[in-house]
Amino acid sequence: MFESLPEEVTVYEVGPRDGLQNETVPLGATDKIAFIQALVEAGVKRIEATSFVHPKWIPQLADAEKVCAGLPEAPGVRFSALVPNVKGLERALKTRIHEVAIFLSASESHNKRNIHRTVAESLADYRDVVTQARAAGRGVRGYVSTVFGCPYEGAVDPRAVVRLVGELKALGVDEVSLGDTIGVATPAEVYTLSKQLVRDFGAKSLALHLHNTRGTALANVVAGLEAGIRVFDSTAGGLGGCPYAPGASGNLASEDLVYMLHGMGIRTGIDLVKLTRASKALEPLLGHALESNVVRSLSMHVSRPAEDGQDPAQGSFIPDPDSRRQKSGADVIALEKPQASKNIVTTFNQ
Ligand code: HMG
Ligand code: MG
Repeated sequence: MFESLPEEVTVYEVGPRDGLQNETVPLGATDKIAFIQALVEAGVKRIEATSFVHPKWIPQLADAEKVCAGLPEAPGVRFSALVPNVKGLERALKTRIHEVAIFLSASESHNKRNIHRTVAESLADYRDVVTQARAAGRGVRGYVSTVFGCPYEGAVDPRAVVRLVGELKALGVDEVSLGDTIGVATPAEVYTLSKQLVRDFGAKSLALHLHNTRGTALANVVAGLEAGIRVFDSTAGGLGGCPYAPGASGNLASEDLVYMLHGMGIRTGIDLVKLTRASKALEPLLGHALESNVVRSLSMHVSRPAEDGQDPAQGSFIPDPDSRRQKSGADVIALEKPQASKNIVTTFNQ
């Protein structure tokens, strides 16, 4: 284990969409845009900003056009949005979103509840979506949901997942994200399925989209890394869930993911403190504390008053991926004492 870890992975931030679609207090468009701006400033390079679904079903994202109109100019950042059909694509194409994301489920019951179609009907509808998106010069991502279990049907046959990834690739999607929609996956099955999909379709075609309902998301990231996955979806603060998957609590928190990756010597290009600030700013707006363990632990250090001249940031453990990676290559075991960050207090006080 840990002999072929990558130097860098991509964190695909889905908080503004998967996170906010599940909040009971809807955020206004101005606050959403400020949140996205803060994510960009933290160094996030791929951001799912909203979705163009029916506002009756997801009222929290009814302002998709407004949010897209206010997206920051951010060279090097790719913004995406979920689209369920051609109507959604037509709305998305009027904005400057770079990429659209289509979605279907590995289980019929979830697909029907979520988008009112059979899986076969969805695939047929998405043919036009992909063709038109490509013709308009936009990228296309695909999600397969309920990959490791369905809230209505229980266990899901991994062969159905492999077949659907193949169907989406045949339609022409760039990347398929494998959704553990209700957070039931455990590392061995994530490893086995990811390994097979990497072998069949190549690592560049794949991402993992993990929910942390049962606390296994980070362990599943490690399993995915070992299998060759290099793109991981997460939400700032651990926002989110799925409105059509009872019991699907928050996504894997971006801060927890970044902390772990940096600690393993894997770069993400993301500033953990700035990311935490982006999430903390949402708490008063949403009216509740966020679930991320790292956000909670950093908040504690920030709010602790200095005692006996001691720096309150002592022990905050902000890992630097470069100092964790030995010069000799892939062996990333941290041999030196991790440095407590000195700048956390000033950064938060800005
Ligand atoms: P439907 O009712 O079957 O749609 O809904 P329809 O085609 O029969 O049309 C009915 C009406 O809706 C028509 O209007 C359409 O124009 C309109 P009318 O003629 O009656 O006035 N309509 C739309 N309006 C705006 N935007 C659209 C749109 N499409 C049709 N795009 C539909 C089908 C898919 C639209 C609906 O079921 C829907 O919006 N569902 C929401 C699905 C959703 O957002 N789920 C959550 C995201 S998925 C997720 O979270 C999982 C993921 O994170 C991965 C994981 O965790 O596994 C991605
Ligand atoms: Mg999700």
